[in-house]
Amino acid sequence: MTHVIVLGNEKGGSGKSTAAMHVIVALLKSGCKVGAVDLDLRQRSLSRYLENRKKFSEINDKALEFPIIVEVEPSNLDSREESKRRETENFQTALLGLEACDFVVIDCPGANTHLARLAHLHADTIVTPLNDSFVDFDLLARLHPETGRVAGPSLYAEMVWEARKRRAMTGVAGGIDWVVMRNRLSATRARNKKKMGDKLEDLAGRIGFRLARGFGDRVIYRELFPMGLTLLDLGGRDSPVRLSTMSHITARIEIRSLIATLNLPQAAISEAA
Ligand SMILES: Nc1ncnc2c1ncn2[C@@H]1O[C@H](COP(=O)(O)OP(=O)(O)OP(=O)(O)O)[C@@H](O)[C@H]1O
Ligand SMILES: [Mg+2]
Repeated sequence: MTHVIVLGNEKGGSGKSTAAMHVIVALLKSGCKVGAVDLDLRQRSLSRYLENRKKFSEINDKALEFPIIVEVEPSNLDSREESKRRETENFQTALLGLEACDFVVIDCPGANTHLARLAHLHADTIVTPLNDSFVDFDLLARLHPETGRVAGPSLYAEMVWEARKRRAMTGVAGGIDWVVMRNRLSATRARNKKKMGDKLEDLAGRIGFRLARGFGDRVIYRELFPMGLTLLDLGGRDSPVRLSTMSHITARIEIRSLIATLNLPQAAISEAA
């Protein structure tokens, strides 16, 4: 059984593609067979990341792990319904092509598109990176302007709710496990960090997600993209780039912690290892 992990958040720039790449490489390094689907058909950040990895591997003659990449064709048919139907077919064909994988990681665009909704419907695990800002929080839940209390779910939380409801109606076994991970956590803004943490903990129980420890704000995440590398590729004697500072070592711990929090089917991981 393939386990589908969807990186989603309607908010742009929250860290979906960066987190998707790190989850993919973490699973590959555990020996799992991983499929990758980039549904951000315009920016193609995950695809570009993987293309950079291929080039880096060839130029430096360095063996690196790769997922099986499957493309989903967009549709621009005049009829909106027809276009959605075609995209649904294309998406299902893509998933069928990855049936032999232990895990499929799907990177969604930062928008509520038909393909993004479809992906959420097929998710066993949804991972939602969230910048540590109340502007980003607003897509998960509305806060009462005077009391600051959580007033109710917002756009993206409603989309996940809809996916959960529709999935339950289709009778597919198992629900959707939703994990929210804070991203770009500042080392200095302790007050904002605590306030966000408190609101998220309050919200988690109410709308049904689990909170992961999250990633700190680190320049290295931006620097690794052109080489197609992740923090998990660094370190060790034959490391392509030196794992230099304490900050990078802590970042690797954050990634391992995320994978542990995802609580993925152990059978798939240990069988592959
Ligand atoms: N923890 C981090 N520390 C520093 N920079 C980060 C971190 N996570 C992501 N970034 C940077 O933030 C930007 C947005 O990240 P990314 O492209 O992964 O987000 P996204 O959610 O996929 O965006 P989009 O919605 O546009 O697809 C990129 O420049 C990325 O390198
Ligand atoms: Mg992206």
